[in-house]
Amino acid sequence: LFCSQDYLMSATRLRIRRPDDFHVHLRDGKSMVSLARVNPVYKRFLVMPNVMPNPITTVDRAIAYKKRIEAEFAPDNDLQLLMTLYLTDHTTPEEIVKAKESGIVYACKYYPAGATTNSENGVTDIHNVYDVLKKMAELKMPLCIHGEATDPSIDIFDREAYFVEHTLIPLHADLPDLKIIMEHITTKQGVEFVLNGGENVGGTITPQHLMYNRNQLLVGGIKPHFYCLPILKREEHRQALLAAVRSGCKRLFLGTDSAPHAKERKECEKGCAGCFSEFLSIELYAEIFEANGCLDKLEAFASENGADFYGLPRNEDFIELEKKEWTVPENYTFGDSVVVPLKAGEVLKTYGGKSSGPEPLMELHRALSACLDK
Ligand code: NCD
Ligand code: ZN
Repeated sequence: LFCSQDYLMSATRLRIRRPDDFHVHLRDGKSMVSLARVNPVYKRFLVMPNVMPNPITTVDRAIAYKKRIEAEFAPDNDLQLLMTLYLTDHTTPEEIVKAKESGIVYACKYYPAGATTNSENGVTDIHNVYDVLKKMAELKMPLCIHGEATDPSIDIFDREAYFVEHTLIPLHADLPDLKIIMEHITTKQGVEFVLNGGENVGGTITPQHLMYNRNQLLVGGIKPHFYCLPILKREEHRQALLAAVRSGCKRLFLGTDSAPHAKERKECEKGCAGCFSEFLSIELYAEIFEANGCLDKLEAFASENGADFYGLPRNEDFIELEKKEWTVPENYTFGDSVVVPLKAGEVLKTYGGKSSGPEPLMELHRALSACLDK
């Protein structure tokens, strides 16, 4: 709006509309991610419902969970929590009506049973929930999908592509009015599904799937902190994701899938799936978009497309990122343990030092001229 593309490409400071993260795991109980000391860079979190021991399968649980998270907020924390409902084989259309009426549930989450962390109570066959999905379409309640097949005979690297062909394409054909978000897309088939889908098909992309391919996980020793689901794929798939981001598709948006697990539960014989990126994710996206030659697409991806897809107002405040050298912490406290973030201990020469606040026009002009002076 105020900045030419040239300015953005050479910026040392970057101001963008305040972003939203449409896929976050905050956990529960002792391991809840503490937002008490963090002034979140994001304005809104779409909060995933796969908490233990009681996944958020009912509206009553969603209301109670939201209160538990908010009880940990610092007083000036203005983060808004958009809750989700965990679909099971037993979810009823009545519960969807209740979810819509609650005003706090913004989407339902479809986990194929057993596909990922804490998905044991998920749906065993999509046809079991068709009545529920029809009700969602009617009420314009979006469906967030973990898009992986669970048939044990399917290779783990093919599970997303298989799911696109056998579940997502038929689902979209059967229920074209249902808003579908294919979450954390990792393959060219996922990209094609979203880009070719109509106005009711959206997708999110994580930082790790834009930054890494499967070599990162497996070459030179198994590195458990790069293990997440869907698993990192071949380079050609990562390139497809980068191209999708460059395309500026308005239905692609930010969802970190930041999924903390205690260090010892990742560095062990049967390590949990999930990468933790919450406190450096916007910096990572900025770095990725810049390296990918599309920094001018960052603001729409991070701060506009998601809100637009969900039919929410865009945020009215802005954040500023400054390019400088900074070191990612080795870990963060997490319950009785610690969680190791992506890029732990690495020195980044990239955007860091977030701040957020209202954006008076004067200040923006000052920031812009300061940049142009450089
Ligand atoms: C997530 C988690 O740990 O809850 N793990 C992951 O690898 N992404 C679940 C999920 O989103 O699949
Ligand atoms: Zn997730």
